[in-house]
Amino acid sequence: MKDNFEKKIEAVPMRGRGEEAEGKCITICTMRKEHVPAVSLLEQSAFSMPWSAQDFLDMVEREGALYLVALCEGQPIGVCGVIDACGDGDISNVAVEEAWRGRGIGRMLVTALMEWGKEIGIRNYTLEVRVSNTAAIRLYESLGFQSEGIRPNFYEKPREDALIMWKRQAEDGQITMSEI
Ligand SMILES: CC(C)(COP(=O)(O)OP(=O)(O)OC[C@H]1O[C@@H](n2cnc3c(N)ncnc32)[C@H](O)[C@@H]1OP(=O)(O)O)[C@@H](O)C(=O)NCCC(=O)NCCS
Repeated sequence: MKDNFEKKIEAVPMRGRGEEAEGKCITICTMRKEHVPAVSLLEQSAFSMPWSAQDFLDMVEREGALYLVALCEGQPIGVCGVIDACGDGDISNVAVEEAWRGRGIGRMLVTALMEWGKEIGIRNYTLEVRVSNTAAIRLYESLGFQSEGIRPNFYEKPREDALIMWKRQAEDGQITMSEI
């Protein structure tokens, strides 16, 4: 099913950050092998302990994993992924190329990931984020994630605690997408 995931989104307003995206269309689709070199570079620029290209290639093949890329003119400018563990989706590698941040692409990616997850029965989502990463924490909170704990010294380079966040399925069985 993940091979069929594709979603086209019109270019979003620039919010005063340059004009390179004006009139362009962002496509969100399943990460394929040919995206991995660019995704790997994006990962290296966004994280101090980046995944390797092989890690991403493994995710392309892995059952129960979905990695999405945001493409502009065929080039990956954003990535995120989820691994399903018995209805709990572990989200990771959420990153948008620096020049494209602040334009709603991170939110589109994670929203698309949860739409796909809903189809395959993921009920709850969890992720870790550096306690100092205000931008990411606000993004996740805006999507309905709540902090449920701290993992001390989870990160290195620099050493830092992780906030553990969850978005749990409501009592009535619905995943609330309206807030997304
Ligand atoms: C976190 C990240 C993915 C957000 O991507 P993005 O495309 O810039 O985010 P969006 O434009 O979709 O923003 C969605 C929401 O996130 C929050 N947000 C995004 N950037 C923010 C910033 N610099 N400061 C505060 N809040 C911010 C806001 O709540 C925003 O909603 P709003 O625009 O309605 O106010 C991006 O900053 C990034 O790649 N960071 C480096 C990698 C990283 O830290 N990933 C997270 C690992 S857990």
